[in-house]
Amino acid sequence: MNTVSHLANARKVAIVQRRLLRWYAAHKRDLPWRRTRDPYRILVSEIMLQQTQVDRVIPKYKAFLKEFPTLRALADASPAAVIRAWSGLGYNRRALYLHRTAQSIAKDYHGRFPKDVDILETLPGIGKYTARAVVCFAFGKDVAPVDTNIARVFHRIFFGVEVPKKKISDAQLWTLAEKLVPKGRGYPWNHGLMDFGSLVCTAKRPKCVTCPMQSKCAAYPAIKSVDWTKHRHRTVAAFKDSDRYFRGRIIEYLRTAPGHRSTIAALEFYFRAQCPPSRLSSLIDTLVRDHLVTCVRDMIALPR
Ligand code: ADE
Repeated sequence: MNTVSHLANARKVAIVQRRLLRWYAAHKRDLPWRRTRDPYRILVSEIMLQQTQVDRVIPKYKAFLKEFPTLRALADASPAAVIRAWSGLGYNRRALYLHRTAQSIAKDYHGRFPKDVDILETLPGIGKYTARAVVCFAFGKDVAPVDTNIARVFHRIFFGVEVPKKKISDAQLWTLAEKLVPKGRGYPWNHGLMDFGSLVCTAKRPKCVTCPMQSKCAAYPAIKSVDWTKHRHRTVAAFKDSDRYFRGRIIEYLRTAPGHRSTIAALEFYFRAQCPPSRLSSLIDTLVRDHLVTCVRDMIALPR
């Protein structure tokens, strides 16, 4: 089945659009980044929401904006201060990208936030999804940011269950997504899809019983017989031995260390039970490469 034949079914598209927008009007979440149209604040939220859950982002988002209320304030901060404010969110590289993007907009664009998707995509940490999310939520443009939740929703409604194997490529889903945005309604449409993917059409055990799309969904009723225990198994134990986990722990250690610095020997001692010095040393190399820490002789520190 290809995208075009599905798109040809204009009736289904119109029904899906109507039902989704109605569902959103009744169930929308009141989230802090939905109370603003300031592109800087929306960018901060979208960068934080990459790979971090909404509930965890909310308090960090508020605290971050208290410390850096404007793009200028963030651009003028030190990398160490930004990494510190990122505490608890993980994926610290995102903090540095956000910082560099703020500096680029302040300098290269004279503080005027670019409204163009193609320009935004050239900035650090801003990909196809984030550029579109920002221009939709800040400037009201009818574009299609497709994150994993939205991709799953479209896959299920138009192509069926996405496990054990996707039936359509991400590129095709993007093409479809762009054609589905209701004219002039991109803002509620995209927020609606995000909420619908988080609250109803969830990755595991979706709430098909109460779903307004049920009669139009290609994945229903096959989805009822999916054994969710077989899919997407990532255990906490495995994560706690991952490089990403230890990289985060090293940054956390430096955040709370006096002057945000430490000797390598003290770090090795601190991690002696979980991480041998050889592994620690290669993890430090990757953090230096990503500009998340600096190393001079036997000292390691957050960047100034
Ligand atoms: N995930 C990514 N962006 C989001 C948004 N604007 N609202 C809710 N969840 C999101």
